[in-house]
This record gives sequence, C-alpha cells and structure tokens, in this order.
Amino acid sequence: TERKYMVAGNWKMNGNRALVDDFKKNLAVPSAVDVLICPPAPYLSLFDGAEFLVGAQTISEFEKGAHTGDVSASMLADLGVNHVILGHSERRQDHGESNEQVAAKVKLALDSGLTPILCVGEPLSVREAGEVNAYVQQQIDAVLDVCGDRFFDKAVIAYEPIWAIGTGKTASPEQAQDVHAFIRAHLLKSSSAAQQMRILYGGSVNAQNAKELFAQADIDGGLIGGASLKVDDFNIICQAA
Ligand code: G3H
Repeated sequence: TERKYMVAGNWKMNGNRALVDDFKKNLAVPSAVDVLICPPAPYLSLFDGAEFLVGAQTISEFEKGAHTGDVSASMLADLGVNHVILGHSERRQDHGESNEQVAAKVKLALDSGLTPILCVGEPLSVREAGEVNAYVQQQIDAVLDVCGDRFFDKAVIAYEPIWAIGTGKTASPEQAQDVHAFIRAHLLKSSSAAQQMRILYGGSVNAQNAKELFAQADIDGGLIGGASLKVDDFNIICQAA
C-alpha cells in the first residue's frame, strides 16, 4: 500500500505567537510525510505562508447562526484551513460531545471540503473489560451512518486510547497495531477505499517511541499532543514517519 504518512500536532489550548513563529521558521517537512499543526483557533491565520498544513481542533455542529463562540466549517475553509480534528476525547469529556454530535461535525466538515481527523479511543475501564473493539466500532459507526462514501475518500482516523493521552503511558506498538488492524478491517467491510485511509496513533507519542509505533503495519503516522509543542522533538517525530 502507498499510504502517505501524516504527523499531526495538536497544540490543544497551548502556544502563543512566539511558538507560531518558531514553527514557521524551524519545522522541517520531510517530502514523504504530510505534516499538520492544529493550533488554537485564534492563531490559525498567523500560519499564512507556513510550509506545512494547518488545521483546527473542532468545529460547530451547526452550519451558521446564533451559536455564540463557535466557529463553522465553512469559515475555516474560507480561511484556507483544510483539516480539522473532530471528536477528540477532551471535547467528548469537557463538552459532552456525543457520537451523534461528532458525526454531524464530520458531515459538515466534508460538506465544506475539509479533511476531518476523527478521533476514537477507549477509557481504561473499557480496555480492562476487554471491550475495546466494540467501543471503537460504535464511535466509528455513528459517523459512517451519516457520512457516506466521501468519508472513505477523505477522512483520517486517529486512534487515541484515553489512558495514554498526556499520561506518558503510551500503548505498546502491539496494542496499538491490534486496534488499528481492527479499525481498518471494519472499514473495509464498507469500502475498499479504507485500504488507503490513514489511521494515526495518538497518546504519549514522543521523540523516543515514535519510530517503533510508526513501523507497525496499520499505523500511518501520529497525532501528537505534548511533544508537538517543541519544534525539535516534533521534527524528530516527523522524521520517524
Ligand atoms: O491529540 C493528541 C493526543 O491527545 C495526545 O496527546 O501526546 O500529549 O499524549 P499527548
């Protein structure tokens, strides 16, 4: 398969103008990798002229109108932003986003020509109960139900076990690969285009462990939190892809 790797940095609610400038100056994009930075929304337009891709961290589930504080998919497209993270576990936790709301957002992203990066992943209790595949399948099926074939042509999936996020406790390469293989097999039941979809791993990826994770057959890159805030570490991770 010729899936192009993607390494995406999710700054979450971190960073400032100086970090934007640092990344614009010092982030080196390997030609074989799609490199994406997702800063907080107010900083998006400061990335004009950057040599890497820039994405948002969420969008409204509504198209437009009386939704104070929200940002729409079409506004991002208007700014020239092409990617958006959707369904991150922190959005699901902090803002109670349901599978159905996430699905509505993925559909709006696709309608606006944005590439959605759909995040899925289980809490520790689900892993301990041996229910990881069923849990992740539900999260994906809610989206497939409303999105149709464009999902397979365009979307990226990020598998992020919640217990591995920001904890320094990464999934082992085998644990991650098992879930990635399950996700791909499940998607292939709906479309052969799933063979080309990128499935990223996220959860305590760093400059030391990236290479081994990215070497797994169904791991096509990473969604990086903490280690995406230091350009030197992030460059090493991009080179590991
Ligand atoms: O979106 C990124 C993930 O939540 C991973 O965060 O690399 O800080 O564990 P982390």
